[in-house]
Amino acid sequence: MTHYAANKFSATTPIYYVNAKPHLGHAYTTIVADAVARWHRLLGEDVHLLTGTDEHGLKIQQAADAAGVSPQQFVDSIAPKFEQAWERLNITHDDFIRTTEPRHAVGVKKLLQACYDAGDIESDFYRGQYCVACEAYFIDDELVNGNCPIHNTPTTFVEEENYFFRLSRFEERLLKWYADHPNCITPGFRLNEVTGFIKTGLQDFSISRKTLTWGIPLPWDESHVTYVWFDALANYITAVGYGTDDAAFNANWPVDFHFLGKDIIRFHCVYWPAMLMSAGIEPPKGWAVGGWLLAGGEKMSKTTGNVVNPLDLIDDIGVDGFRYYVLADTVYGNDGDFTYEGLISRYNSDLANNLGNLAARIATVVEKKCGGIGPTPSLNSILAAAAATAVADTSAAWHSVQPSRALEATWGLIKATNAYLENNEPWKMEPGEAVDTVMGDALEALRIVTILANPALPTSTQEIWRRIGLTGEITDLRIGADTQWGQYPSGRQVVKGEPLFPRKK
Ligand code: MSP
Repeated sequence: MTHYAANKFSATTPIYYVNAKPHLGHAYTTIVADAVARWHRLLGEDVHLLTGTDEHGLKIQQAADAAGVSPQQFVDSIAPKFEQAWERLNITHDDFIRTTEPRHAVGVKKLLQACYDAGDIESDFYRGQYCVACEAYFIDDELVNGNCPIHNTPTTFVEEENYFFRLSRFEERLLKWYADHPNCITPGFRLNEVTGFIKTGLQDFSISRKTLTWGIPLPWDESHVTYVWFDALANYITAVGYGTDDAAFNANWPVDFHFLGKDIIRFHCVYWPAMLMSAGIEPPKGWAVGGWLLAGGEKMSKTTGNVVNPLDLIDDIGVDGFRYYVLADTVYGNDGDFTYEGLISRYNSDLANNLGNLAARIATVVEKKCGGIGPTPSLNSILAAAAATAVADTSAAWHSVQPSRALEATWGLIKATNAYLENNEPWKMEPGEAVDTVMGDALEALRIVTILANPALPTSTQEIWRRIGLTGEITDLRIGADTQWGQYPSGRQVVKGEPLFPRKK
């Protein structure tokens, strides 16, 4: 991948269905995208992070009917819950698109028209099994005991006149594109899944429904509204100006990474690049595909009923504690098993015992042995090498969208610093040069840790920064220049403060 050299970095999350409130699964993908975006800002890149809500379609219409309100009233009541959740989770998106916005409708119509003019959208009859929860048709072979393979609920037989996108014409073009861009999907094994699927032969897919009214009408036949995926995927381009601001669009597309869960990989890695190719638009540069967060072995979702509200967990563990858990506990790309015990145990070991303890210990010893003023580090400290390794490994891991490995590398420096303190036992020393050397080195290591851990723990790292006497915002610093060993200044007052991560039972 070539993202290192670029001075622009753009990323998107899926846009979430507003048939239900945000849950842990939504929060997971959004926090990963946010942390990666924050890392790229620390690299000095011009970052654009997009998220939003998917508000059209049968699923939403049915949820509105069930609530006894109009679809518009319904989506207007749920969409703000996503915005509030992201604010609470400290998500730094630059834009939030709702598919009911006018800018979106304009761009969707332009995209539809471009594919229609290219001859890739045609009218035909559809007969097949449809899953409302997925908003997708399935062929018989894909059903499991007659049920939807994702939701394990019965599908419905549907026969109607639809417009179809001729996906079957794109097999060769897609395979060639993937052969030319072998590193575009992370983790890499997902690329094989995508190309394997393309090689089994692609089916044309339906893009419109006559029976549905809650959606965007086709520009050439207003008796149809476009079907959910054509509408939803287009958000990635309509948000950056497609159809409304050509200059902005040309400056911001193609996107560096779409973040998504493995459940929607076909739509993102097969349908979407084909739709873009048809319309004469460059496909995305990259996709970062996450696994599922499972609760009791099942994908957490409204349909299966095992939904954990992330906001309830924050009350318990703090925003940073929660962000850290979802970033550190699951290797991005693999499935993760959410348990409350796992959350508490990771919080206690990594945050309370490691980072929290290091910060508290340093402040205590500096207060007792150095008169509360932080000493400066020595340039040939053995911690300097540990810091350089942590910076290099943390950078490489964020670069390849591996937050858990990035945090592991950062925590390597925390552990080395705790070990350095235990070996030297500065708390047993008399005040003087020797204790000053040890504490200056520990402060410098902690300074570097707070920068490296900032994308995961934005609030508590800033608080540590302040407590060790440093000023300004970590988010204004740069990986590289500001993570070089030896910059902790002289004469700064170090304060202990309340425990940042009190131990939980
Ligand atoms: N609206 C579509 C996406 C359109 S994108 C152009 C959709 N929405 S969704 O709300 O059902 O889920 C979106 C994404 O949320 C999933 O692809 C996945 O990234 C994330 N997750 C939802 N549940 C999840 C888990 N239990 N675990 C991990 N991620 C999950 O699909």
